[in-house]
Amino acid sequence: MDGNLVIINAGIVTPVGNKPIKGRDMGNLKEITHGALMIENGIITYVGTMDDMPAYPDSFEVIDAAGNCVLPGFIDSHTHLIFGGYRPEEFEWRLKGDTYMSIMERGGGIQSTVNATRNATADELYKKALWFIGKMSEMGVTTVEVKSGYGLDTESELKMLDVINRLESSKDNPVNIISTFLGAHAVPSEYKGKTSEYVDLMIKEMIPTAAGKAKFFDIFTEKNVFEIEDSRKLLRAAKDAGFELKLHADEIVTLGGAELAAEMGAVSADHLLHVSDEGIRAMAEKGVVATLLPLTAFALKEPFAPARKFIEADAAVALATDLNPGSCFSGSIPLTIALACIYMGMSIEETITALTLNGAAACGIADETGSLEVGKRGDVIILAFDTYKSLPYYVGMNCVRTTVSRGRIISNK
Ligand code: NIG
Ligand code: FE
Repeated sequence: MDGNLVIINAGIVTPVGNKPIKGRDMGNLKEITHGALMIENGIITYVGTMDDMPAYPDSFEVIDAAGNCVLPGFIDSHTHLIFGGYRPEEFEWRLKGDTYMSIMERGGGIQSTVNATRNATADELYKKALWFIGKMSEMGVTTVEVKSGYGLDTESELKMLDVINRLESSKDNPVNIISTFLGAHAVPSEYKGKTSEYVDLMIKEMIPTAAGKAKFFDIFTEKNVFEIEDSRKLLRAAKDAGFELKLHADEIVTLGGAELAAEMGAVSADHLLHVSDEGIRAMAEKGVVATLLPLTAFALKEPFAPARKFIEADAAVALATDLNPGSCFSGSIPLTIALACIYMGMSIEETITALTLNGAAACGIADETGSLEVGKRGDVIILAFDTYKSLPYYVGMNCVRTTVSRGRIISNK
Protein backbone atom coordinates (compact mmCIF):
# COMPACT_ATOMS: atom_id res chain seq x y z
CA MET A 1 0.00 0.00 0.00
CA ASP A 2 1.34 3.38 -0.98
CA GLY A 3 1.64 5.80 1.92
CA ASN A 4 0.55 9.24 3.05
CA LEU A 5 3.38 10.97 4.83
CA VAL A 6 4.77 14.41 5.60
CA ILE A 7 8.33 15.23 6.51
CA ILE A 8 8.71 18.52 8.35
CA ASN A 9 11.60 20.77 9.45
CA ALA A 10 13.74 19.18 6.76
CA GLY A 11 16.96 20.25 5.07
CA ILE A 12 16.08 18.95 1.60
CA VAL A 13 18.76 18.27 -1.02
CA THR A 14 17.97 16.93 -4.49
CA PRO A 15 18.96 16.96 -8.14
CA VAL A 16 16.24 18.31 -10.38
CA GLY A 17 14.64 17.08 -13.59
CA ASN A 18 13.29 14.11 -15.51
CA LYS A 19 16.41 13.37 -17.52
CA PRO A 20 19.97 12.23 -16.79
CA ILE A 21 22.17 15.09 -15.61
CA LYS A 22 25.30 15.39 -17.72
CA GLY A 23 28.83 16.51 -17.05
CA ARG A 24 29.55 19.22 -14.51
CA ASP A 25 25.85 19.91 -14.02
CA MET A 26 25.87 16.73 -11.95
CA GLY A 27 27.34 18.89 -9.19
CA ASN A 28 24.28 21.17 -9.00
CA LEU A 29 21.86 20.13 -6.27
CA LYS A 30 18.85 22.12 -5.12
CA GLU A 31 18.79 22.83 -1.40
CA ILE A 32 15.80 23.88 0.69
CA THR A 33 16.43 24.82 4.28
CA HIS A 34 13.61 24.55 6.81
CA GLY A 35 11.64 22.62 4.22
CA ALA A 36 8.77 20.20 4.06
CA LEU A 37 7.77 17.33 1.83
CA MET A 38 4.32 15.80 1.43
CA ILE A 39 3.54 12.40 -0.08
CA GLU A 40 -0.04 11.37 -0.91
CA ASN A 41 -0.81 7.84 -2.06
CA GLY A 42 2.88 7.29 -2.66
CA ILE A 43 3.39 10.37 -4.86
CA ILE A 44 5.08 13.63 -3.86
CA THR A 45 2.52 16.46 -3.80
CA TYR A 46 4.57 19.20 -2.11
CA VAL A 47 8.25 20.06 -1.77
CA GLY A 48 9.10 23.51 -0.46
CA THR A 49 9.40 25.65 2.60
CA MET A 50 7.60 24.96 5.87
CA ASP A 51 5.90 28.37 5.53
CA ASP A 52 4.11 27.51 2.29
CA MET A 53 3.21 23.97 3.18
CA PRO A 54 -0.46 23.14 2.54
CA ALA A 55 -2.68 21.62 5.25
CA TYR A 56 -2.86 17.83 5.46
CA PRO A 57 -5.26 15.39 7.13
CA ASP A 58 -4.55 14.18 10.70
CA SER A 59 -4.34 10.65 9.34
CA PHE A 60 -1.03 11.42 7.58
CA GLU A 61 2.11 10.07 9.21
CA VAL A 62 4.48 12.87 10.27
CA ILE A 63 8.27 12.69 10.51
CA ASP A 64 10.11 15.56 12.14
CA ALA A 65 13.45 15.71 10.34
CA ALA A 66 14.95 18.59 12.33
CA GLY A 67 18.72 18.10 12.29
CA ASN A 68 18.56 15.47 9.56
CA CYS A 69 19.32 15.90 5.87
CA VAL A 70 16.65 14.61 3.45
CA LEU A 71 17.58 13.18 0.02
CA PRO A 72 15.94 11.12 -2.74
CA GLY A 73 16.15 7.35 -2.23
CA PHE A 74 19.21 5.71 -3.75
CA ILE A 75 18.87 3.77 -7.00
CA ASP A 76 21.09 0.69 -7.30
CA SER A 77 20.96 0.37 -11.07
CA HIS A 78 23.21 -2.70 -11.48
CA THR A 79 22.93 -5.85 -9.35
CA HIS A 80 23.01 -9.61 -9.72
CA LEU A 81 21.29 -10.34 -6.41
CA ILE A 82 19.55 -13.57 -7.41
CA PHE A 83 21.96 -16.48 -7.28
CA GLY A 84 22.50 -19.96 -5.89
CA GLY A 85 25.46 -20.73 -3.60
CA TYR A 86 28.45 -18.53 -2.81
CA ARG A 87 32.07 -18.40 -4.04
CA PRO A 88 34.29 -17.59 -1.04
CA GLU A 89 37.02 -19.95 -2.33
CA GLU A 90 37.45 -17.78 -5.44
CA PHE A 91 37.88 -14.69 -3.31
CA GLU A 92 40.70 -16.47 -1.50
CA TRP A 93 42.29 -17.66 -4.77
CA ARG A 94 42.28 -14.06 -5.96
CA LEU A 95 43.94 -12.97 -2.72
CA LYS A 96 46.73 -15.40 -3.62
CA GLY A 97 47.15 -13.94 -7.13
CA ASP A 98 44.61 -15.72 -9.35
CA THR A 99 42.71 -13.45 -11.74
CA TYR A 100 38.94 -13.22 -12.26
CA MET A 101 39.20 -14.33 -15.90
CA SER A 102 41.59 -17.24 -15.27
CA ILE A 103 39.14 -18.66 -12.70
CA MET A 104 36.32 -18.23 -15.22
CA GLU A 105 38.32 -19.86 -18.01
CA ARG A 106 38.90 -23.01 -15.96
CA GLY A 107 35.17 -23.47 -15.33
CA GLY A 108 34.72 -21.53 -12.09
CA GLY A 109 33.44 -18.00 -11.85
CA ILE A 110 30.02 -17.36 -13.34
CA GLN A 111 29.66 -21.06 -14.32
CA SER A 112 30.03 -22.10 -10.71
CA THR A 113 27.08 -19.88 -9.75
CA VAL A 114 25.18 -21.15 -12.81
CA ASN A 115 25.50 -24.73 -11.49
CA ALA A 116 24.26 -23.70 -8.04
CA THR A 117 21.44 -21.57 -9.46
CA ARG A 118 20.20 -24.33 -11.76
CA ASN A 119 20.04 -26.59 -8.67
CA ALA A 120 18.19 -24.06 -6.51
CA THR A 121 14.41 -23.80 -6.32
CA ALA A 122 12.66 -20.56 -7.23
CA ASP A 123 11.58 -20.26 -3.59
CA GLU A 124 15.15 -20.53 -2.32
CA LEU A 125 16.30 -17.86 -4.79
CA TYR A 126 13.40 -15.61 -3.87
CA LYS A 127 14.03 -15.77 -0.11
CA LYS A 128 17.73 -15.12 -0.53
CA ALA A 129 17.08 -12.14 -2.81
CA LEU A 130 14.65 -10.66 -0.29
CA TRP A 131 17.33 -10.82 2.40
CA PHE A 132 19.75 -8.79 0.26
CA ILE A 133 17.04 -6.29 -0.65
CA GLY A 134 16.26 -5.84 3.05
CA LYS A 135 19.92 -5.00 3.74
CA MET A 136 19.99 -2.57 0.82
CA SER A 137 16.87 -0.76 1.95
CA GLU A 138 18.59 -0.06 5.29
CA MET A 139 21.28 1.78 3.27
CA GLY A 140 18.67 3.96 1.59
CA VAL A 141 18.01 1.99 -1.59
CA THR A 142 14.47 2.39 -2.92
CA THR A 143 14.97 1.01 -6.46
CA VAL A 144 17.04 -2.02 -7.44
CA GLU A 145 17.81 -3.26 -10.91
CA VAL A 146 18.03 -7.06 -10.82
CA LYS A 147 19.57 -9.25 -13.53
CA SER A 148 19.07 -12.88 -14.47
CA GLY A 149 22.16 -14.49 -16.00
CA TYR A 150 22.93 -17.44 -13.75
CA GLY A 151 20.60 -19.83 -15.60
CA LEU A 152 22.06 -19.72 -19.10
CA ASP A 153 19.50 -22.16 -20.49
CA THR A 154 15.94 -21.27 -21.39
CA GLU A 155 14.30 -22.98 -18.43
CA SER A 156 16.71 -21.68 -15.77
CA GLU A 157 16.72 -18.14 -17.15
CA LEU A 158 12.92 -18.20 -17.06
CA LYS A 159 13.09 -19.40 -13.46
CA MET A 160 15.25 -16.38 -12.61
CA LEU A 161 12.98 -13.96 -14.49
CA ASP A 162 9.98 -15.39 -12.66
CA VAL A 163 11.73 -14.74 -9.34
CA ILE A 164 12.45 -11.14 -10.41
CA ASN A 165 8.83 -10.64 -11.47
CA ARG A 166 7.60 -12.22 -8.24
CA LEU A 167 9.77 -9.77 -6.28
CA GLU A 168 8.36 -6.91 -8.32
CA SER A 169 4.76 -7.73 -7.46
CA SER A 170 5.19 -9.04 -3.91
CA LYS A 171 4.16 -7.12 -0.81
CA ASP A 172 7.14 -8.70 1.01
CA ASN A 173 9.50 -6.69 -1.16
CA PRO A 174 9.69 -3.06 -0.07
CA VAL A 175 11.54 -1.54 -3.03
CA ASN A 176 10.92 -0.87 -6.69
CA ILE A 177 12.40 -3.55 -8.98
CA ILE A 178 13.72 -3.13 -12.53
CA SER A 179 14.17 -6.39 -14.42
CA THR A 180 17.01 -7.31 -16.77
CA PHE A 181 17.49 -10.44 -18.87
CA LEU A 182 21.19 -11.39 -18.86
CA GLY A 183 21.13 -14.69 -20.75
CA ALA A 184 24.35 -13.45 -22.43
CA HIS A 185 26.29 -13.38 -19.15
CA ALA A 186 28.64 -16.20 -20.23
CA VAL A 187 28.80 -19.16 -22.58
CA PRO A 188 27.64 -22.08 -20.40
CA SER A 189 29.92 -25.12 -20.04
CA GLU A 190 27.80 -27.34 -22.29
CA TYR A 191 28.54 -24.88 -25.15
CA LYS A 192 32.26 -24.47 -24.36
CA GLY A 193 34.09 -23.86 -27.63
CA LYS A 194 30.73 -23.47 -29.42
CA THR A 195 29.95 -19.83 -28.75
CA SER A 196 28.19 -19.35 -32.07
CA GLU A 197 25.79 -22.22 -31.26
CA TYR A 198 24.91 -20.57 -27.96
CA VAL A 199 24.43 -17.23 -29.74
CA ASP A 200 22.05 -19.01 -32.14
CA LEU A 201 20.13 -20.58 -29.25
CA MET A 202 19.80 -17.17 -27.67
CA ILE A 203 18.54 -15.56 -30.86
CA LYS A 204 16.16 -18.37 -31.83
CA GLU A 205 14.84 -19.41 -28.44
CA MET A 206 15.98 -17.55 -25.34
CA ILE A 207 15.45 -13.93 -26.44
CA PRO A 208 11.97 -14.58 -27.90
CA THR A 209 10.98 -16.52 -24.75
CA ALA A 210 12.28 -13.85 -22.38
CA ALA A 211 10.73 -10.97 -24.36
CA GLY A 212 8.08 -9.19 -22.31
CA LYS A 213 9.39 -10.74 -19.08
CA ALA A 214 12.12 -8.14 -18.49
CA LYS A 215 12.61 -4.49 -19.34
CA PHE A 216 16.31 -4.62 -20.24
CA PHE A 217 18.62 -6.97 -22.11
CA ASP A 218 22.21 -7.01 -20.85
CA ILE A 219 25.36 -8.74 -22.12
CA PHE A 220 28.90 -9.40 -20.88
CA THR A 221 30.78 -7.96 -23.87
CA GLU A 222 34.30 -9.10 -23.09
CA LYS A 223 37.31 -10.78 -24.67
CA ASN A 224 36.75 -14.57 -24.71
CA VAL A 225 33.12 -14.15 -23.62
CA PHE A 226 30.91 -12.33 -26.16
CA GLU A 227 33.16 -10.30 -28.40
CA ILE A 228 31.98 -7.36 -30.49
CA GLU A 229 30.44 -9.20 -33.48
CA ASP A 230 28.46 -11.66 -31.35
CA SER A 231 27.44 -8.87 -28.99
CA ARG A 232 26.17 -6.77 -31.88
CA LYS A 233 24.08 -9.70 -33.20
CA LEU A 234 22.58 -10.39 -29.79
CA LEU A 235 21.88 -6.74 -29.03
CA ARG A 236 20.14 -6.34 -32.39
CA ALA A 237 17.98 -9.40 -31.77
CA ALA A 238 17.12 -8.15 -28.28
CA LYS A 239 16.27 -4.68 -29.54
CA ASP A 240 14.03 -6.17 -32.23
CA ALA A 241 12.31 -8.22 -29.53
CA GLY A 242 11.46 -5.02 -27.63
CA PHE A 243 14.15 -4.92 -24.93
CA GLU A 244 15.98 -1.77 -23.91
CA LEU A 245 19.72 -2.34 -23.83
CA LYS A 246 22.54 -2.42 -21.30
CA LEU A 247 26.09 -3.73 -21.65
CA HIS A 248 28.83 -4.90 -19.31
CA ALA A 249 31.47 -3.05 -21.34
CA ASP A 250 35.25 -2.76 -21.23
CA GLU A 251 35.40 -4.29 -17.76
CA ILE A 252 38.51 -6.44 -18.05
CA VAL A 253 40.12 -5.28 -21.32
CA THR A 254 39.54 -2.48 -23.83
CA LEU A 255 37.32 -4.12 -26.45
CA GLY A 256 35.07 -1.38 -27.82
CA GLY A 257 32.02 -2.18 -25.69
CA ALA A 258 31.43 1.51 -25.00
CA GLU A 259 31.45 2.31 -28.73
CA LEU A 260 29.05 -0.59 -29.35
CA ALA A 261 26.72 0.70 -26.62
CA ALA A 262 26.63 4.08 -28.40
CA GLU A 263 26.09 2.47 -31.79
CA MET A 264 23.19 0.37 -30.50
CA GLY A 265 21.51 3.23 -28.59
CA ALA A 266 21.89 1.46 -25.24
CA VAL A 267 20.45 3.12 -22.16
CA SER A 268 23.63 2.43 -20.21
CA ALA A 269 27.06 0.85 -20.50
CA ASP A 270 28.41 -0.41 -17.21
CA HIS A 271 31.84 -1.04 -15.59
CA LEU A 272 34.06 0.75 -18.20
CA LEU A 273 37.26 0.32 -16.20
CA HIS A 274 39.20 0.05 -19.46
CA VAL A 275 37.10 2.29 -21.71
CA SER A 276 38.89 4.09 -24.56
CA ASP A 277 38.75 7.87 -25.02
CA GLU A 278 36.82 7.24 -28.23
CA GLY A 279 34.31 5.13 -26.27
CA ILE A 280 33.82 7.95 -23.75
CA ARG A 281 33.22 10.45 -26.56
CA ALA A 282 30.77 8.13 -28.33
CA MET A 283 28.78 7.48 -25.16
CA ALA A 284 28.62 11.19 -24.32
CA GLU A 285 27.47 12.04 -27.83
CA LYS A 286 24.71 9.41 -27.88
CA GLY A 287 23.57 10.02 -24.30
CA VAL A 288 24.45 6.54 -23.00
CA VAL A 289 24.61 6.63 -19.19
CA ALA A 290 28.02 5.50 -17.86
CA THR A 291 27.22 3.28 -14.90
CA LEU A 292 30.37 2.98 -12.83
CA LEU A 293 30.81 0.23 -10.24
CA PRO A 294 33.70 1.14 -7.93
CA LEU A 295 33.13 -1.77 -5.54
CA THR A 296 34.00 -4.22 -8.34
CA ALA A 297 37.22 -2.40 -9.21
CA PHE A 298 38.09 -2.34 -5.51
CA ALA A 299 37.31 -6.04 -4.96
CA LEU A 300 39.19 -7.13 -8.10
CA LYS A 301 42.12 -4.76 -7.36
CA GLU A 302 41.62 -3.20 -10.79
CA PRO A 303 41.97 0.50 -11.67
CA PHE A 304 38.83 2.54 -11.05
CA ALA A 305 36.77 3.69 -14.04
CA PRO A 306 37.70 7.19 -15.30
CA ALA A 307 34.72 9.03 -13.82
CA ARG A 308 36.28 12.48 -14.31
CA LYS A 309 36.93 11.84 -17.99
CA PHE A 310 33.25 10.95 -18.46
CA ILE A 311 32.15 14.06 -16.57
CA GLU A 312 34.54 16.34 -18.47
CA ALA A 313 33.25 14.80 -21.74
CA ASP A 314 29.74 15.88 -20.66
CA ALA A 315 28.46 12.32 -20.17
CA ALA A 316 25.96 11.32 -17.50
CA VAL A 317 27.51 9.12 -14.80
CA ALA A 318 25.57 6.76 -12.55
CA LEU A 319 26.99 4.72 -9.68
CA ALA A 320 25.81 1.27 -8.61
CA THR A 321 27.04 -1.66 -6.50
CA ASP A 322 27.18 -4.65 -8.93
CA LEU A 323 26.29 -6.90 -5.96
CA ASN A 324 27.07 -10.47 -7.10
CA PRO A 325 28.60 -13.61 -5.56
CA GLY A 326 31.82 -13.42 -7.61
CA SER A 327 33.57 -10.25 -8.72
CA CYS A 328 31.93 -8.08 -6.08
CA PHE A 329 30.17 -9.61 -3.11
CA SER A 330 29.08 -6.29 -1.67
CA GLY A 331 25.98 -4.15 -1.91
CA SER A 332 27.51 -1.39 0.17
CA ILE A 333 26.18 2.01 -0.87
CA PRO A 334 28.31 3.76 1.80
CA LEU A 335 31.52 2.24 0.44
CA THR A 336 30.46 3.00 -3.15
CA ILE A 337 30.11 6.66 -2.17
CA ALA A 338 33.44 6.75 -0.35
CA LEU A 339 35.34 5.12 -3.23
CA ALA A 340 33.72 7.42 -5.80
CA CYS A 341 34.76 10.50 -3.84
CA ILE A 342 38.17 9.37 -2.60
CA TYR A 343 39.50 7.42 -5.60
CA MET A 344 37.43 8.48 -8.62
CA GLY A 345 37.60 12.21 -8.04
CA MET A 346 33.84 12.71 -7.96
CA SER A 347 32.49 15.49 -5.78
CA ILE A 348 29.98 14.63 -3.08
CA GLU A 349 27.24 16.38 -5.07
CA GLU A 350 28.11 14.48 -8.28
CA THR A 351 28.06 11.25 -6.32
CA ILE A 352 24.55 11.97 -5.03
CA THR A 353 23.28 12.74 -8.54
CA ALA A 354 24.93 9.53 -9.79
CA LEU A 355 23.14 7.43 -7.16
CA THR A 356 19.75 9.10 -7.53
CA LEU A 357 18.56 10.81 -10.73
CA ASN A 358 21.23 9.32 -12.99
CA GLY A 359 20.65 5.87 -11.48
CA ALA A 360 16.98 6.32 -12.28
CA ALA A 361 17.93 7.32 -15.83
CA ALA A 362 20.04 4.17 -16.15
CA CYS A 363 16.85 2.26 -15.26
CA GLY A 364 14.75 4.31 -17.69
CA ILE A 365 12.64 5.80 -14.88
CA ALA A 366 14.03 9.32 -14.44
CA ASP A 367 10.52 10.68 -14.92
CA GLU A 368 9.18 8.58 -12.01
CA THR A 369 11.81 8.80 -9.28
CA GLY A 370 15.41 9.88 -8.55
CA SER A 371 14.61 13.40 -7.34
CA LEU A 372 12.31 15.05 -4.82
CA GLU A 373 9.79 16.83 -7.03
CA VAL A 374 6.03 17.03 -7.25
CA GLY A 375 4.62 14.15 -9.28
CA LYS A 376 7.50 11.79 -8.59
CA ARG A 377 7.32 8.76 -6.34
CA GLY A 378 7.73 9.34 -2.62
CA ASP A 379 11.12 7.59 -2.45
CA VAL A 380 13.05 9.45 0.23
CA ILE A 381 15.86 8.96 2.72
CA ILE A 382 16.54 10.78 5.94
CA LEU A 383 20.16 10.83 7.09
CA ALA A 384 21.29 10.57 10.69
CA PHE A 385 23.28 13.78 10.16
CA ASP A 386 22.33 17.33 9.23
CA THR A 387 24.44 17.44 6.07
CA TYR A 388 24.82 15.21 3.01
CA LYS A 389 28.55 15.86 3.29
CA SER A 390 28.62 13.18 5.98
CA LEU A 391 28.05 10.52 3.29
CA PRO A 392 31.70 9.95 2.21
CA TYR A 393 33.14 11.43 5.41
CA TYR A 394 31.67 8.63 7.54
CA VAL A 395 33.72 6.21 5.42
CA GLY A 396 31.95 2.97 4.57
CA MET A 397 29.40 3.50 7.35
CA ASN A 398 25.68 3.85 6.94
CA CYS A 399 24.42 7.42 7.35
CA VAL A 400 20.80 6.58 6.56
CA ARG A 401 18.35 6.73 9.46
CA THR A 402 15.05 6.27 7.65
CA THR A 403 14.16 4.95 4.20
CA VAL A 404 10.77 5.75 2.65
CA SER A 405 9.51 3.96 -0.45
CA ARG A 406 6.33 5.27 -2.13
CA GLY A 407 5.51 7.13 1.08
CA ARG A 408 5.92 4.09 3.33
CA ILE A 409 8.69 3.79 5.91
CA ILE A 410 10.59 0.63 4.97
CA SER A 411 13.56 1.02 7.31
CA ASN A 412 13.99 3.09 10.45
CA LYS A 413 17.08 2.68 12.63
O1 NIG B 1 29.36 -7.44 -13.31
N1 NIG B 1 31.43 -9.46 -15.32
C1 NIG B 1 30.40 -10.02 -15.41
N2 NIG B 1 29.42 -10.11 -14.51
C2 NIG B 1 29.53 -9.73 -13.14
C3 NIG B 1 30.20 -10.75 -12.30
C4 NIG B 1 29.40 -11.98 -12.14
C5 NIG B 1 30.06 -13.04 -11.34
O2 NIG B 1 31.29 -13.07 -11.17
O3 NIG B 1 29.29 -13.90 -10.86
C6 NIG B 1 30.09 -8.34 -13.00
O4 NIG B 1 31.25 -8.15 -12.58
FE1 FE C 1 27.53 -6.87 -13.33
